[in-house]
Amino acid sequence: MLEIKNVYKTFNAGTVNEKVALKGLDLTLEDGDFVTVIGGNGAGKSTMLNAVAGVWPVDMGKIIIDGKDVTRLSEHQRAKYIGRVFQDPMMGTAATMQIDENLALAARRGLARTLKTGITKKEHDEYYELLKTLDLGLENRMTSKVGLLSGGQRQAVTQCGQRHEERDAPSRRTGQ
Ligand SMILES: Nc1ncnc2c1ncn2[C@@H]1O[C@H](COP(=O)(O)OP(=O)(O)OP(=O)(O)O)[C@@H](O)[C@H]1O
Ligand SMILES: [Mg+2]
Repeated sequence: MLEIKNVYKTFNAGTVNEKVALKGLDLTLEDGDFVTVIGGNGAGKSTMLNAVAGVWPVDMGKIIIDGKDVTRLSEHQRAKYIGRVFQDPMMGTAATMQIDENLALAARRGLARTLKTGITKKEHDEYYELLKTLDLGLENRMTSKVGLLSGGQRQAVTQCGQRHEERDAPSRRTGQ
C-alpha cells in the first residue's frame, strides 16, 4: 500500500524560477491497484513519482509504503521498499551485467546486494520461466549483457526483476 499525504514540493523556492509542482497532494493506492496518471506537460506527474522514490526531500507531507513512513529516507534507503521502471531504458538495469545477473540483483533487494553466492540452478530456472512470460525470447539470452538489449527489452527485464521480487519476497520488500 502506498500513501501520499498532503505532499508539497516547490522547486527553486524564493527565486524567479520558483515553481510550485505539488500542492497538498493526497493519493492512496492499495496493493494490486493499477493506476494511470494523466496530466499535461509540467503538470507534476514525474514530480509525484520522484517524491515517492525520494529523489529529493519533499517540503511537507508524508510518503508511507506498507505502513512504513519513508519520508525521511534517502533514495537509496527507499530502494529497499520500492522498485520502479524508468522512462529512460538506460536506467534501472546494469548494462555490463548479464540478464540473469540483473534479475538476481533485483531479487536480493533489501539484503546485502552481492552476487558472491552466484546464481543457483533454482534461480536460473525461475528466471527462465519469468522471462518466457515476456514472449521476447530473452529466456534464451540469459547470459547476454543487458547493454546489448533494446530499450523496450531492458525495461521488460527491469519489470521482470520487480515482479520476481514481489512474488518471491513480499516480506523482504516491506522489511517486516
Ligand atoms: N528538478 C527540478 N527543478 C526545477 N523545476 C522542476 C524540477 N523538476 C520538475 N520541475 C518543474 O516542476 C513542474 C512539474 O514537472 P514534472 O516533470 O513533474 O511534469 P510532468 O507532469 O512529468 O510533465 P511531462 O508530461 O512533460 O513529463 C514543471 O514546471 C517542471 O519544470
Ligand atoms: Mg514527466
